[in-house]
Amino acid sequence: MPGPSPASFKLADPRVAELAKRTLRTIWKYVLPYRGRFALSILLGMLSAVFNGLMLIGFQLIFSLVLKGKTRTLGEPTDLPLIGEIDLAKLLGLDADAPIGLTGVMIACAFIPVLIFLRGFFAYLSSYMQAWVTSRVACQLRNDAFHSVMRQSPGFFNSARTGELMQTVTVQTAAVQRNAMQLVQTLAQRPLTIVSILIVLFAQDWFFTLMSLVVFPACLVPIVRIGKRVRKTGAREEYDSRELMVAMQESFAGIRLVKSYAREPHAENRFATTNASMTRNQLRWTKAVELVGPLVETVASLGIAAGLVYAWDRGLEAENFFLLVMALTQIYPPVKELSRVQMMLQKTTVAAEMVFELLGREPDIKDVPDAVAAGRSLGTVTFQNVTFHYRDADCVKKEVPAISDINLQLDPGKFYAFVGPSGAGKSTLYSLLLRFYDPDAGAVLLDGRDIRSLTQESLRANIGVVSQDTFLFHDTLRENIRYGRLDATEEEIIAAAKKAHAHEFISRIPGGYDAVAGEGGCNLSGGQKQRISIARAILRDAPVLLLDEATSALDTESEKIIQEALHTLSAGRTVVAIAHRLSTILEADQIVVMDHGRILDRGTHAELLARCALYQKLYHLQHSGEGQPPA
Ligand SMILES: Nc1ncnc2c1ncn2[C@@H]1O[C@H](COP(=O)(O)OP(=O)(O)OP(=O)(O)O)[C@@H](O)[C@H]1O
Ligand SMILES: [Mg+2]
Repeated sequence: MPGPSPASFKLADPRVAELAKRTLRTIWKYVLPYRGRFALSILLGMLSAVFNGLMLIGFQLIFSLVLKGKTRTLGEPTDLPLIGEIDLAKLLGLDADAPIGLTGVMIACAFIPVLIFLRGFFAYLSSYMQAWVTSRVACQLRNDAFHSVMRQSPGFFNSARTGELMQTVTVQTAAVQRNAMQLVQTLAQRPLTIVSILIVLFAQDWFFTLMSLVVFPACLVPIVRIGKRVRKTGAREEYDSRELMVAMQESFAGIRLVKSYAREPHAENRFATTNASMTRNQLRWTKAVELVGPLVETVASLGIAAGLVYAWDRGLEAENFFLLVMALTQIYPPVKELSRVQMMLQKTTVAAEMVFELLGREPDIKDVPDAVAAGRSLGTVTFQNVTFHYRDADCVKKEVPAISDINLQLDPGKFYAFVGPSGAGKSTLYSLLLRFYDPDAGAVLLDGRDIRSLTQESLRANIGVVSQDTFLFHDTLRENIRYGRLDATEEEIIAAAKKAHAHEFISRIPGGYDAVAGEGGCNLSGGQKQRISIARAILRDAPVLLLDEATSALDTESEKIIQEALHTLSAGRTVVAIAHRLSTILEADQIVVMDHGRILDRGTHAELLARCALYQKLYHLQHSGEGQPPA
C-alpha cells in the first residue's frame, strides 16, 4: 500500500504535507456528525488547560495568605502585575495586617484539594468527551472498512491476504483513533496550558522565567534525536503486526493441512519469528519514548539547581521559589507532548493511509448507474462470444484466456452437464454467470438481458449454488439452512431439509436443528454437508441452479441419497452442472464437453460417446465400470 515510509516522514515534504492534510480532512468528515460533542470536548480541554494557570495563581494566593498572614506583592515588581494586585485577604474580608487564625488557615488550605480536583475534573470530562467522539469515529471507520471489503469482487480476494485485511479493519482503525485523539488533545490543550503557566511565571519573576526558558531548546535536542530513531521502528511494527495476523489466520484456516502434514512447528516458527521481531520493535519504541521523560527531567533539574542559586542571590522568599519550581515542573510535560506532535501526526497518517486506501477502493465489479432489478428470471442463460482472461496480482491480463469465444444457449428447465479435463474453464463459466468477473469480450445474458445491466443482487437472487466445498458457518444447522432465504419460516426450513434428505440425519444428531456446525462444518460428513447445502439451495428457490459436484467419491448409499436430493432440487430449473458422477451426466438433457477454454462438442451421452474423442477418453478414465451407459 502506498504511503510515506516513516523514515522519510518530513512535514516540509509537500507530498507528506498533502497526505497529512488529506488524512485530517477525511477524519474530520467522520467527526462532523458529532461536531457538537467534539467542540465541547475541546472546550473542556481548554478549560482544564487554563485551570493549570489558575490553579497556580490560587496556590500563590493561598501560600501568601497562610505563610505570611497577608498578601504580598510577588517577587520584584513586574510589568505584568496582574497577580500581585489581587489581595485575597481583602477579598475574604480579613484584616490585611493581622495574622489569620487556625480556622482561616484550614479554610485556605482546603482550597488546595478543591483546585486540584477541579483541574482533574475538567481534564477527565474533556478526555471522556473526546473518547466518546473518537470511539464512535473508530466504530464507523471499522464498519466502513468492512463494508468496503465486502463490496470487493472475488478477483480482489485472489490477491489480498485475509489476515492483512483483518488487521487493517481492526488494528489500523484503532491506531487511527488512538493517535488522532492524542493529536487533538495535544494541539487543543497543551499550548493553552503552556501559555497560562507562562503568564503566571512571568508575573512572578520575568528574569527567572526567561532564564529557564533558555533551557527548553536544550531539552528538545535529545527529543529530536530520539524521535528520529522512533520513526524508523514505527513502520516495522505495523508490518510485523500484519504479518502476525496473516500467520495466524492462515494457520487457523488451514489447520487440517497443518495437522495432516504435522507442520505445527513450521507454523509456530513463522509466528514466533514475526512475534519476536514485533516485540523487539515495540521494546525499541518504548525504550525511545520512555527515555524522553527522564532526559527532559534531568535537563529541567539543572534549571532548578541554577534557579536556587539565583533565588539565594536575589533573596527570594521560599514560597515564591516553591511556586516557581512548581510552575516549571508543570510546564515541561506539555512542552514534551507538543514536541511529539509531528511523531503523532506521522503515526496517524501511516495508519490512516492504509485504512483510507481500503475505504476508497472501488470494486472491480459495480452496478451500472441505471442498473435494473432482474425480477424473477425464466431461466434462459446465453453466452455470446465470451472471452475472459484472469488477471495477476498487478491486474495484468494473463496471456492465455481461461475461456475463449464461448457461444452457448441454455434453455429454461433443462439440465446441462459440463465435462472436461481440469483447467478446461468450467468453473470460470460459473464465475462469469454469477458476475464475479466481467468478460473481456462478448456478453452473458439472462433472459436476453446483459447481466451487466442488472443489479448484482437481483442477478444473484436468480441463481442458486451448490458447490464442491460447502461452507457452513459456526452456527446452528437451522441458521445454516436459513442462509438460503433469511426470512424462511421454521416449517419451510424443515420442508427444505426433508426434500434435501437432510432431515433424517439432522433428527438423529443430538440437538437436531439446534446443533452447531463447527467452523467449516467440521463435525458433519462430506455427504451431510452437501445435503445441508442442497437444502439451502431449495430454500433459495432460484430459477437457475449452478451445481459444482464434488470430485471426491461418496459411497454408493449416500451417492444415491444425494442424487435423489439433487433430482428434487433440479426440477423446473435451468441446471448448469459441473458433473463428475456418471449418474449426473446420464441425467443431463445435454452434455457440454470443454477443453482449453473452448466448447468442443455437445450432445447426449450416446452421441458424444460415438463421436467425441475427448469424451470417450474422459468417460473411460473416470467411469468405466462405474455404471452402465444406456443402450
Ligand atoms: N483465480 C484465478 N486466477 C488466475 N487463473 C485462474 C483462476 N482460476 C482459474 N484460473 C485458470 O483458468 C483456467 C480455467 O480454470 P477453471 O477453474 O475454470 O477450470 P475447471 O474446468 O473448473 O477445472 P477443474 O475441473 O479442475 O475445477 C485454468 O487454466 C486456471 O489455471
Ligand atoms: Mg473447477
